[in-house]
Amino acid sequence: MQQNQNSYSIHSMELGPMENFVYLIHDHASDTAAIVDPAWEVNKVLDLADSKGIKITDILLTHSHHDHINGLQQTLEHSDAKVHLLKPEAKFWGANLSKPELHHGADQIKIGDSLINILHTPGHTPGSACYQVGNDLIAGDTLFVFGCGRCDLAGGDPEEMFQTLKRMKTELPASTVLHPGHNYAPQSPTSTMETQCQGNPFLHFDEVDDFVKYRMHVHDKIRDAPYGAVSKEHARESIK
Ligand SMILES: [Fe+2]
Repeated sequence: MQQNQNSYSIHSMELGPMENFVYLIHDHASDTAAIVDPAWEVNKVLDLADSKGIKITDILLTHSHHDHINGLQQTLEHSDAKVHLLKPEAKFWGANLSKPELHHGADQIKIGDSLINILHTPGHTPGSACYQVGNDLIAGDTLFVFGCGRCDLAGGDPEEMFQTLKRMKTELPASTVLHPGHNYAPQSPTSTMETQCQGNPFLHFDEVDDFVKYRMHVHDKIRDAPYGAVSKEHARESIK
């Protein structure tokens, strides 16, 4: 668990066969929480909340892939929580959710006193979202520690991913703590944007064509998780 001086804490649990992270954003004052991407043995997260007297009021989805939502029904049966996702992801998914709250990028929601900014970060899927609270960013499959989400599945778009990562690189404070959707990291499961700008190969390309080549044709042939840091020179050399 990450404790800080803010109004909230972030609890994370690594669950399932694909090293998914399920997060709780716990607002201290109200003892309410949002659960992000409920999946796999989600009862462990629900039990954690219960044991601490935390009420889950909201469910935040970064995107609709099965490995991020397969505990949604169980969570809804446990807590009468609101489901939040971006409108383009709901359209892409096509699921028959009962009364979801559909958002646009730059919308904000509140969990108790804690304000959460919703970022629209397309590329992995059309309506992928990142959730920013204080200095923390829950990034789903958009950005991993020294990696990024694949763009070759249905709804993926490497050119959009390039634009998304460019915005994240320039607009997020360097001290932002990244909480990814999967644990592909060699050591600490979190990182900072500063460290990622220095060593995440997907943040090393300035031209969209170079990024697309690396993401779609090079990366998976030369790297396996856990992912370590890659220098800018090395990333650029690998696409020649
Ligand atoms: Fe995904």
